[in-house]
Amino acid sequence: MCGIVGYVGDKESAPILVSGLKRLEYRGYDSAGLAVLHRNQLNVVRATGKLRNLENRVVAEPPKGTIGIGHTRWATHGRPSDENAHPHTYEGVAVVHNGIIENHLELKATLKGRGHAFSSETDSEVFAHLISEELKRGLELPKAVRAAITHVKGTYALAVVAENDPEHIVCTKDASPMVLGLSEGQNFVASDVPALLEHTRDVIFLEEGDLAVLSAAKAEVFDRQGRPVNRPIRRIDWTPMMAEKGGHKHFMHKEIHEQPRAIADTLRGRVLRTQGDVHLEGFNLEPEVVKGLTKVTMLACGTSWHSGLAGKLMIESLARLPVEVELASEFRYRDPIVEKSHLAIAISQSGETADTLAALKEAKARGARTMAVCNVIGSAMTREADFTVLTNAGPEIGVASTKAFTTQLVALYMLAVKLGRMRGTLSLEAAQKHLTYLTEVPKMVEDVLRCEPEVKKVARAYLGARDFLFLGRGPMHSVALEGALKLKEISYIHAEGYAGGEMKHGPIALIDETLPVVVIAPKEPKVAYEKILGNIEEVRARGGKVIAIIDEGDQHVPGLADAVIRIPSAPALLAPVVATIPLQLLAYHVADMRGNDVDQPRNLAKSVTVE
Ligand code: AGP
Repeated sequence: MCGIVGYVGDKESAPILVSGLKRLEYRGYDSAGLAVLHRNQLNVVRATGKLRNLENRVVAEPPKGTIGIGHTRWATHGRPSDENAHPHTYEGVAVVHNGIIENHLELKATLKGRGHAFSSETDSEVFAHLISEELKRGLELPKAVRAAITHVKGTYALAVVAENDPEHIVCTKDASPMVLGLSEGQNFVASDVPALLEHTRDVIFLEEGDLAVLSAAKAEVFDRQGRPVNRPIRRIDWTPMMAEKGGHKHFMHKEIHEQPRAIADTLRGRVLRTQGDVHLEGFNLEPEVVKGLTKVTMLACGTSWHSGLAGKLMIESLARLPVEVELASEFRYRDPIVEKSHLAIAISQSGETADTLAALKEAKARGARTMAVCNVIGSAMTREADFTVLTNAGPEIGVASTKAFTTQLVALYMLAVKLGRMRGTLSLEAAQKHLTYLTEVPKMVEDVLRCEPEVKKVARAYLGARDFLFLGRGPMHSVALEGALKLKEISYIHAEGYAGGEMKHGPIALIDETLPVVVIAPKEPKVAYEKILGNIEEVRARGGKVIAIIDEGDQHVPGLADAVIRIPSAPALLAPVVATIPLQLLAYHVADMRGNDVDQPRNLAKSVTVE
């Protein structure tokens, strides 16, 4: 999730671009850059690390020019470095890109075959080469950009300047956000509204396939077919901070609602349904190594440990490989048994959690193959592991993990399919079925988000409780743990997650009319559903309040529960992705109604980089 800005007008563009990029820092940054056009000459400044590194370079030697584009990078392909920072240039063309080019490897090979030399590891640089070729064919910049994107499969918000067209910025989008800012004598483009508000509140949200041509005097928009269109000009009355949250009250709420897109981005370019396989860039385990694996050891903390518990069931079911899910903080100190035939998987949103990183190093030192499931390219774990599967969820600002959890589950499911195919435990047809399930998940998550009004009612009814108990069985055990963690860490209400079968071994003593019990009871797997009904009866018999998370079609549980939240039916192993959403919303609304600092809860840090 990168940040793009562009300016054309009568002022020096460099300071305007830097200021706009600062407003987009929440979109993630591991490097940044800008390209300014002055008298048909491009001047590019890029810097790795914090945005102030770029700012220092620009202040030291301000590039002159009243037209330019800028970019903060949240890397998906290619480590954070000056060479991989945007803008990317080629033969007088400069581009900034937010999105993922799925067919970048094929395009690069074709272009190299035509003599192109690449200077970065990124997918985005391909745009500069493709546009340069179209310009050489005599097309004007807008048509050259339109022609270039016809070769691209993937998502983009793209802004382009070129030395042979010193008056215009051309920008276009498909699936990644892009908005124009309009003002007298100057025009702007950005990934998001916050970058525009200090200059204008009149904006145009581009639609899929739109292409805009900006000059100081005007902004023209054309649809995917190249026809001029009049997109509505909207007046934005948000404060800049409200704008960074996209109008949401908290980043956590925004990130809960980003999950359909985040999951789609995790899947993007990786699901090979026809081949019944998964493409995981960087996956470097040879088939005979995978066949020889005797165990997977998952290493994680907190929410990431919960996704490991769900991932265990996926890998054991599809790849028939034993999986142990270890608390990283325990693993590293117990002289663990590790063999060369083991695969250690570090699961981490930040890639910097001290306990998980140390556990990964311990497993590696003892001979295990290693991989990371991580959201931050270039983080310590991605550098330590033999290879990384990125979750591509975009920056997660809220301390309470939400989209990181669900995208980890999707990544682990893809891994389970891949390992199953390589080990011969998953047939082509079965793999195709599982991959079809996967592609349906973003829509299911979109559907389940509609339960929010019901969840708010439940939050209001129970926000005064002293304790909560969460119960789940099978794949829902990890969801019960995750729901309890979400609630306790932002509402400060004590909450416990338990396997339903364990209730009679102790927690049942807690049950009385003051205790809300959240029971996650989807109909699959059937045996778990039948057993969790028993738990519901046990709770009711002792006066406990039952809040049931159930499938849309369930007619049986509503008569047994004090409140029900309905979710779409999902295949058992993927159901945790869907069932967790109402629990994220429950925790959020209880905490918000209690007046807590939802994004920065007391005593917590986003990444626990100390022991
Ligand atoms: C979850 O909401 C918490 N923020 C915390 O448990 C977190 O999952 C844990 O600290 C692990 O962080 P990581 O995924 O960045 O390694």
